[in-house]
Amino acid sequence: MNKVKILELFGGIGAIRKAIINLKIPYEVVDYVEIDKACVKSYNALYGEDYKTKSVVGYKVPNEKIDLIMHGSPCQDFSRIGKKQGGVKNSGTRSSLLFETIRIIKEMKDKPK
Ligand SMILES: C[S@@+](CC[C@H](N)C(=O)[O-])C[C@H]1O[C@@H](n2cnc3c(N)ncnc32)[C@H](O)[C@@H]1O
Repeated sequence: MNKVKILELFGGIGAIRKAIINLKIPYEVVDYVEIDKACVKSYNALYGEDYKTKSVVGYKVPNEKIDLIMHGSPCQDFSRIGKKQGGVKNSGTRSSLLFETIRIIKEMKDKPK
């Protein structure tokens, strides 16, 4: 079985990667994008990686075919118990960052499966 090539956006501590591992799916992480220092440190420790912090904002699509995007953008602004700031495109809320993933997919010549 070929390895599934993965792009992890808003990768956090890599819970979705852990699910892929548990499912015994052969995979390769092409890139991992996470802005929070502590998350990146944990992720690197858990998976033996050496990623640096980076933002999805302005992120350039890797020059490699991606099979699967794993995406977990912030949802606080949608929460019923939060400040309900919403996720309207270009509103500047954390939840509006989901539009960065849509931009990234649009910019990919070969779309993920
Ligand atoms: C809902 S959590 C994702 C959790 C992740 N699935 C995990 O396994 O830990 C959202 C993540 O988006 C990250 N984040 C927020 N703004 C970001 C940005 N501009 N670029 C990249 N990551 C960002 C947060 O630091 C947080 O770790």
